[in-house]
Amino acid sequence: MSKRCRTAILISGSGTNLQAFIDAIADGEIDLEIVVVFSNNPDAYGLQRAAAAGIPTACIRHDAFADRESFDAAVIAELDGFAPDLLVLAGFMRILGPAFVAHYRGKILNIHPALLPLYPGLNTHQRVIDAGDEWHGSTVHFVTEQLDAGPRILQGRLRVNADENANELQDRVQSLEHKIFPRAANMVGNGDVTFIDGQCWVNGAPREEPEIETF
Ligand code: GRF
Repeated sequence: MSKRCRTAILISGSGTNLQAFIDAIADGEIDLEIVVVFSNNPDAYGLQRAAAAGIPTACIRHDAFADRESFDAAVIAELDGFAPDLLVLAGFMRILGPAFVAHYRGKILNIHPALLPLYPGLNTHQRVIDAGDEWHGSTVHFVTEQLDAGPRILQGRLRVNADENANELQDRVQSLEHKIFPRAANMVGNGDVTFIDGQCWVNGAPREEPEIETF
């Protein structure tokens, strides 16, 4: 029997994506083991979700550190105590520096609420509405030193409704995130998807374009 992928989930807020992982594991849909939920924010509601599920939690406040490098080093020291195979950034609102990314190269996943490479950065839902786009969605990708630009693994997309506001659109995008993020992380956890020389490989072959699931 193969060992389950030891997964650390990093959050800053509500943790609805974290909850989706907890539920997918409980339902036997994915085969990851969440070994720790980490937050930079002691008030993150996701920490309560983790505790309720019996998952260890850890918290280091970023504002207690003079610079990004010393915060990142403290997070590495904390996480390495849990020997993670995979780091899942699920609404983790801190940019991780190059030393952190290098330490866990190819093992960090992020979800970004846009169809990357469209709309890196913040406020994506309003920007999509303002542009009058037909499609919007979310992207699971490997984290590299370039913000929101690492190799893409899986995208979930939906059609933007006429007259939909940014909050409504965000709700629908978050619902699809809860399906694609655990699934994508599981594909990495079971070895079907890997990060080799800066590229996403699927079942032993490099893949430029992500898999796209339409909702
Ligand atoms: C998600 O929408 C994700 O795309 C973004 O942050 C949000 C986190 O939401 N990176 P939650 O904390 O999982 O509810």
